[in-house]
Amino acid sequence: MNRQQFQLITRLLKQYQSYWRQDPFTQVISGQVAWRGDNPELLTWLQALSRDAISTYKNNPPLFASKISDWLPDAELLSTITVPHRPFSESAAKLPRGLDSGIPGRKLQQISSLSDVCLSDHHGTQWLEWCAGKGYLGRLLSSQSQQLVTSFEFQSTLCESGQSEADKLSLPMTFVQGDAFSDEAGHVFSHHQHAVALHACGDLHVTLIKHAVRGKLPAVTLSPCCYHLIHDTHYQPMSNEGHEAGLTLSKQELRIPLQETVTGGERVKRHREQEMTFRLGFDALCSETGLSPAYIPIPSIKKSQLADGFEAFCLWAATKKQLILPIVDYGHYEGVGMKRYWEMEALSLVQGAFRRPLELWLALDKALYLQQQGYTTDVFTFCDPAITPRNLVVHAVRT
Ligand SMILES: C[S@@+](CC[C@H](N)C(=O)[O-])C[C@H]1O[C@@H](n2cnc3c(N)ncnc32)[C@H](O)[C@@H]1O
Repeated sequence: MNRQQFQLITRLLKQYQSYWRQDPFTQVISGQVAWRGDNPELLTWLQALSRDAISTYKNNPPLFASKISDWLPDAELLSTITVPHRPFSESAAKLPRGLDSGIPGRKLQQISSLSDVCLSDHHGTQWLEWCAGKGYLGRLLSSQSQQLVTSFEFQSTLCESGQSEADKLSLPMTFVQGDAFSDEAGHVFSHHQHAVALHACGDLHVTLIKHAVRGKLPAVTLSPCCYHLIHDTHYQPMSNEGHEAGLTLSKQELRIPLQETVTGGERVKRHREQEMTFRLGFDALCSETGLSPAYIPIPSIKKSQLADGFEAFCLWAATKKQLILPIVDYGHYEGVGMKRYWEMEALSLVQGAFRRPLELWLALDKALYLQQQGYTTDVFTFCDPAITPRNLVVHAVRT
């Protein structure tokens, strides 16, 4: 199943690559849409969408995928690419007292779901928690299984805080401070361990998989994130199928799966809309008044500063970039920014239809690699995307 799904996603990603590789912000800034010549009717339809329709499609990528099959016939197949879901656990509510100490609400839901997944198909007599942070996941696993957990983490402050909490609760947990990319990291692996990782970034989860295979660990359960945090300039596929696929992915393209803000809530959405409107409006001001023919990247801004309004944003950005602004009608350019923001949102629907398939492709590549190394593997979601959009799990058991 993994292989067929991987091949289907590979085919669709390659067939429609001009539709998802280009960043919508760049499309609006440059006025160039890579696929315009191939599909002018799709562009016209997108440009005519109301804001409500854009929001509806944005919240429902499979619905949008089936809608665009009017123009991209095989895109219909995108809506058939589904991931099985492990039902969200209620166990957070029944945790022993003190076990949840210091764990923020959404994180608690994530770790209790993921620990249920790990415990329900546990292999080995110990655990290894990779890139553990404060070891929240390890805390639940050690408490529920009473087995030794080794929590490996780079930041010593997190190790100290996690160890002190584990000691308070008399849990069999040992933190090991170290760098996952160092040779010494290999020494924490043993063939007694079930390795687990919640949200291990790019090369960190790749390194975990390689060590686990080398150390013949009985099981690995990991949820990947931040696919772009890699040492190479491009994604290095792990599986034979991944190599054969011939799909190159730059770091920029590896960010595409992360461009989803479901957990942010209304305030985060409003800030994003305002900030992008301001940035796009400032760009229009600079190009129309001849201040700069090319896009000027503006540094990140504190969200609280956005409340000062568009004119204050422009003055701040101009100072940062040592530009002298002419006298302009700021209201006009803020309006232009808003119009461009909705153009960007409409264009991003197209890339959005490929976002989850791309993320799944990256997870399936690891699952297929683990299969080739003698594991049976499963890829599924461990919690609702509203709890974390990075909700994919690769679960592998050595056969
Ligand atoms: C996204 S956080 C996840 C933390 C924890 N698993 C959780 O979900 O709460 C990634 C963790 O990886 C750790 N990390 C980053 N680079 C590392 C490295 N080179 N070696 C070991 N840990 C590293 C970070 O310090 C951080 O705690």
